[in-house]
Amino acid sequence: MMNKEKVFLNSLVTLNFSKSFLYMSEYKMLYHLNRMMEPFVKAPKKEDDPALIKLMREKVLDLYLQDANNVLKGYYPKDLLLKFDPKNHLLRLPKLLMDSVSISRRRKTGKTKDLDAEIEAPDYLKRNYHFQTDGYFSDHSASLYEHQVEILFNGTAQAMRRMLIGHLKKRFPEKKFFKVLEVAAGTGAMSGDFVKSFDFNELIITDISEQYLNLAKEKITDSRVSFNVACAEELPFKDGQFDLVYSVFLFHEIPRQVRDEVFRESFRVLKSGGVVALCDSIQMDDDSRLNEVLDNFPRDYHEPFYRDYTKWDVSEALAKNNFKDISSEFHLLSKYFSAVK
Ligand SMILES: C[S@@+](CC[C@H](N)C(=O)[O-])C[C@H]1O[C@@H](n2cnc3c(N)ncnc32)[C@H](O)[C@@H]1O
Repeated sequence: MMNKEKVFLNSLVTLNFSKSFLYMSEYKMLYHLNRMMEPFVKAPKKEDDPALIKLMREKVLDLYLQDANNVLKGYYPKDLLLKFDPKNHLLRLPKLLMDSVSISRRRKTGKTKDLDAEIEAPDYLKRNYHFQTDGYFSDHSASLYEHQVEILFNGTAQAMRRMLIGHLKKRFPEKKFFKVLEVAAGTGAMSGDFVKSFDFNELIITDISEQYLNLAKEKITDSRVSFNVACAEELPFKDGQFDLVYSVFLFHEIPRQVRDEVFRESFRVLKSGGVVALCDSIQMDDDSRLNEVLDNFPRDYHEPFYRDYTKWDVSEALAKNNFKDISSEFHLLSKYFSAVK
């Protein structure tokens, strides 16, 4: 590697680390606030085993090196790493602080169905995932979601999402994804990066939450993109239309049988030769040193289907739904699958 490239790579890694320090300090601030409120509010257990901390640091560095290398290879523009809005970040902090108290109360009292009774969604989804206020079903929840996820993952969440772009570009360097469907896009965290990284004709962004999708709509204004409230296991699209169907952080949130239905639907709407791709959690024994982290996560953050996901054979489920050429890789706490129809 030339010196100039090395400097560029190091500056991107440093940039990612500075974001991590910011989110880590916000995690600490919320953690100590919740501890101060004990015994009324129980805070999540912080993983403080020194060997685990060292391992996580190494893995974060690996992730950030990979992220910077993906930029050097031209998989995505460096702008994706520069995206940061300090004003809105700061303005969200008081709201996040207040909300963390409600989250802790729900955690302490085990309240997981603290939602508006009128919500129209499958029963398994009507819950406070991560004990978050209103689950996925309010503007308030949508406005805090991406920031909360970054705090939870010490600022590594977006870099982990971006690895899906790297995975696709590496695996299918010649393939053109003309018509693309994103399922369970939430507030469009990945969609925005997808738009800037791929040469496509049409992208349909879907989610079951109208409120989350509304926020995605506000952020992504590209004439090739449209938005559609849709359930991933019952897609309102005709057979054989898409070149790529992808999702990020969906599969661990839904029951096993529904995951299977999502693959069946993805297969149906894909063209022959089309690609299904997903980014989700790593699974048990991908790195056995992290098994304990995977075990603790669903307890601290109300994720009723997560433990089952970590033991689910994704490749087998893809094959059962007639996908072929199945491939996977993992980085830090996320794992990426792709397969072909
Ligand atoms: C953990 S969030 C991930 C959101 C986004 N992909 C991201 O990377 O931030 C899970 C998302 O899945 C959506 N969701 C959950 N079950 C769904 C389903 N069956 N069909 C469509 N969307 C679903 C939720 O509304 C939520 O936006």
